[in-house]
Amino acid sequence: MNIEPGDYVEVATSKGSVRGILLPRPEYGEGNIVVIKLDNGYNVGVIAKEIRLIRKGERKERERRGEIKNLKGLPTISIIGTGGTIASYVDYKTGAVNPALTAEDFIFTVPEIVKEANIRAEMVFNILSEDMKPEYWIKIARKIKDEAKFSNGIVIPHGTDTMSYTSASLSFMLEKLPFPVVLVGSQRSSDRPSSDAYMNLISAVKVAKTDLGEVVVVMHATSSDDKCLIHRGTRVRKMHTSRRDAFKSVNSRPMGEVGEEVKFYGEYRKRDDKLVLRDKMDEKVSLIYFYPGMKSDLLESLLDGMHGAIIMGTGLGHVSSDLLPILRKNIRDGVVVGMTSQCLYGRVNLNVYSTGRELKNAGVIPLEDMLPEVAYVKLMWLLGNYDLSKVKKLMRENLRGEISNRRFLE
Ligand code: DGL
Repeated sequence: MNIEPGDYVEVATSKGSVRGILLPRPEYGEGNIVVIKLDNGYNVGVIAKEIRLIRKGERKERERRGEIKNLKGLPTISIIGTGGTIASYVDYKTGAVNPALTAEDFIFTVPEIVKEANIRAEMVFNILSEDMKPEYWIKIARKIKDEAKFSNGIVIPHGTDTMSYTSASLSFMLEKLPFPVVLVGSQRSSDRPSSDAYMNLISAVKVAKTDLGEVVVVMHATSSDDKCLIHRGTRVRKMHTSRRDAFKSVNSRPMGEVGEEVKFYGEYRKRDDKLVLRDKMDEKVSLIYFYPGMKSDLLESLLDGMHGAIIMGTGLGHVSSDLLPILRKNIRDGVVVGMTSQCLYGRVNLNVYSTGRELKNAGVIPLEDMLPEVAYVKLMWLLGNYDLSKVKKLMRENLRGEISNRRFLE
């Protein structure tokens, strides 16, 4: 019997048997593994030499790709696709990983989501997240506003590299939310046995059904498939290049977890009765990583024409003293300069060392325990919407959970 990728098969080993669609061999690694997509959409890998029997099986009707029927009593969730690995599905015949463009494509990847919600889906663009730009963040925010007429929750599949910039920008732009906005990504593509796409997407849909009124990121909690974590959109960061549990909440605990059910650990903002969008962004802001040996003319050019800058300083928030005159001059000319730390964990403090005190006297704003990327996005948003004196004050205030008053990790 000739069995090909795309066939529905039964595979038996000494440990048991599985049924599902035979996927083409993954493009990278795991060459000795046969990948089967189970009926619920989850991929399993079976070691080729352990297979005792493989034969064609009968596929159940609901696993066939077809028309989607909306069910009464289920909430409507909008999937706003932006690209990245998560927004793709595998063509079982060719092995090609295609962009998921329609609700049918997403349901084909994760058939179980139809049990959770009626799905509306649209790709606003299909890009790698390194190609994201502030104008695209605004486009996503406006699309979320449009979906408020139809939806009870929003899920945004997104490339993982810059997902936290987008989550921060949406957190600031969407001042009030009548539903959860859940960003989700995947570290391993959907043709691999270790893909996290299935569990992340279904968990994101579950969170989108809750009474949350915030922007969050939902990703794997550990390197196994036990649960996902809910991270606040202004606290999350990709901390590993490839692990499935790459996303961590920094200087804050995750907001909750998703297994069978969604469980929140503590307080969170509840759904509002309306959506308020403030979608201006001033792009004249730079994010500057200081390093020993940084030349003042480089700093000068990074500040040239800017309205604001966020510095990632060393330790408690320092740069070398020879850069001070440039900073002093720019701040005098009206540039808003904020200080964050390369350490990421902990709080900046410009009162401890003389360099810190001089930076503070020059008018550099210490940004507490805010993540540098979040500070960068926040400054763009504040400069786009408020006058200068308000911007300086609000940079140090906690608007969306981005700054904590208590000290967590000391
Ligand atoms: N470069 C990645 C991105 O951020 C692609 C893979 C992924 O989805 O993370 O878009």
